[in-house]
Amino acid sequence: MNNDDKKKLAAEAAIDHIQIGDVVGVGTGSTANYFIDALAKLKYDIDGAVASSEASAKRLQSHGIRVLDLNSAGQLPIYVDGADEATKQRSLIKGGGGALTREKIVANASDKFICIADDSKLVGALGSFPLPVEVIPMARSSVARQLVKLGGVPELRENFTTDNGNIILDVHNLTINEPIKMELEISAMGGVVTAGIFALRPADVLLLGGDQGLQTI
Ligand code: 5RP
Repeated sequence: MNNDDKKKLAAEAAIDHIQIGDVVGVGTGSTANYFIDALAKLKYDIDGAVASSEASAKRLQSHGIRVLDLNSAGQLPIYVDGADEATKQRSLIKGGGGALTREKIVANASDKFICIADDSKLVGALGSFPLPVEVIPMARSSVARQLVKLGGVPELRENFTTDNGNIILDVHNLTINEPIKMELEISAMGGVVTAGIFALRPADVLLLGGDQGLQTI
């Protein structure tokens, strides 16, 4: 099974967690795209979706799925999204696609967060994948210096602006043994909008596609 088939397997399994009448929180990325395509079959059964990016909103709308604003949708029953890395404790690194801020907002506004991925994303400890940090442009250098003090090597994501008009620093070389502590530490830096560690609000369920089929954690 190739990686795309594994992503698709996880994405389609997430459909079993959707209930009639739900407003569904929807993530961003290639795995989330498979989920959106599968969700299209339920478009008359759900009440709509809240998207974590402009790209996902467009894809949902192209399938005729109603896209709602989070402020009018209220608390969501479920959020489904991919990840760049995941541990067995269900802490995540997210933001490879640059949508980390809206992803964290929707995850925090949801009762249940189902993370879908191919099994290559499961790691013993977070940090091999460069940690995305969304930063207000004025704070770029100052935040970069603080990240260096933490032992990281920040790199500006070239030619990229987030949906919120900010920049991304991808931080290499971080050892993230205590994800909650590091999430709090980076989030507290002036000018940081979002750190791509999802540990304070981890996933509730990991659905991982692999050669042996679906693994649920
Ligand atoms: C986007 C994300 C994605 O969930 C993450 O990058 C995984 O993407 P993919 O499903 O394409 O592997 O956090 O900001």
